[in-house]
Amino acid sequence: MKKIAHIKEKIESFNNTIYVPGDKSLSIRWILMASQAIGTSIAYNLLKSEDVLTTLNAIKKLGISYKINKNNCKIYGKGLNGFNFKNNTIINAGNSGTFARLIFGLLVKTKKQIILKGDKSLSKRDFSRVIKPMQMFGQNIKSKNDRLPIKIKGTNYPRPIIYDEKKGSAQVKSCILLAAMKTPGKTKLKSIPSRDHTEKLFKYLKLPIKIFKNKKKDFISYEGIKNFKGFNYKIPGDISSSSFFIVLTLLTKNSKILIKNINVNKSRTGIIDILKMMKAKIVLKNKKNYNGEDIADIFIKSSNKLKSINCPIKMNSRAIDEFLLIFLVCAKARGISKFNKIGELRHKETDRLKFANNFLNNIGIKTKITKDSFKIYGNPNLKLNKKYIIENFDKDHRACMLSFIAALTLGGKWIIHDIDSINTSFPNFISLLKNLGAKIS
Ligand code: S3P
Repeated sequence: MKKIAHIKEKIESFNNTIYVPGDKSLSIRWILMASQAIGTSIAYNLLKSEDVLTTLNAIKKLGISYKINKNNCKIYGKGLNGFNFKNNTIINAGNSGTFARLIFGLLVKTKKQIILKGDKSLSKRDFSRVIKPMQMFGQNIKSKNDRLPIKIKGTNYPRPIIYDEKKGSAQVKSCILLAAMKTPGKTKLKSIPSRDHTEKLFKYLKLPIKIFKNKKKDFISYEGIKNFKGFNYKIPGDISSSSFFIVLTLLTKNSKILIKNINVNKSRTGIIDILKMMKAKIVLKNKKNYNGEDIADIFIKSSNKLKSINCPIKMNSRAIDEFLLIFLVCAKARGISKFNKIGELRHKETDRLKFANNFLNNIGIKTKITKDSFKIYGNPNLKLNKKYIIENFDKDHRACMLSFIAALTLGGKWIIHDIDSINTSFPNFISLLKNLGAKIS
């Protein structure tokens, strides 16, 4: 694949129906859970991106085999104690924060040591968030500054923990739940609400999870140990991937799009609610429930009457992966948009708050940034005609894809580097754009 893209003109109006690939969070979770099931599990529409292939390769190194067929993927699980590998086996998590954090949970009881590595960007990210609870379970962890590479060895006698998860991180919550699955006794978790695919998968598999919610916190408990059988799963489309097309449509004159069969789990639809608050026209059609997950087709029309937002803090976790796109919409909206307590954006594949600030300033948008807040002074008349070079973004797939959407909707001449980073989550992103008429060379 080429490493650089050139975009010299905006996309013209379109009116299309599209499908985006399977949800990344659900694909990774399905693999990890199927690796713990007894017998064969089959997934349809599994995302075939680098983060997901990383997860498949990892379970193979841990002794679980899989097969990718034309229409499905099969995993041959051996139950909760089925991992089998040599001491000091090296697992490369690549760019995947989700895989790297969740795998700690499944390694709570392993007798041999794993060395977990990652790419340059993942090696800069903080792992204390999972190291802390996993040490409470009794896992042995050796690291320098809580960064990868990290040596992980399980304990023969994991103990259930009581944990207060304060970041609103689904990765931390899921890591704890996966460890709880292999730990006798009751693990109790209090957490700021975040995406709840792991909980929904546990419920679908009839595992002993209990959830009580109040306005601010989720109270989750799990009573281990219970085995479960292989299971089949049809993975719906990814709302985070859809969001690039939602914003592309919103900011392109006289355009409409229908994005079919998307996971619209409420913990993920922050972008839809935020854009609606900004006066975007978005409708969810054909709503249905599949194995506990909500699914719908998303219909969106372009709009030139967008207004700014004072974003409620409760949206932060529900839109965590979509803020770069939301900031771009704010740049074209009338008024000043405000975001508070969004410091978690600094801990993604790149520091997304810093990236967004530089990006918006570069295209002539005034901003104010602090450690964990952001203000954007929108300009509905924003039109670009200069040259823009996008590089040095730690190969963050979402930063890269955002640049394509900005280039195709705002004008100017763009050179976007490191476009292979897109393979992390959305390998056919550029071909879908081209099908809508985008000119990218
Ligand atoms: C994810 C959780 C989020 C999100 C990431 C995927 C998951 O991270 O940003 O892309 O699948 O659990 P945090 O848990 O760190 O917020």
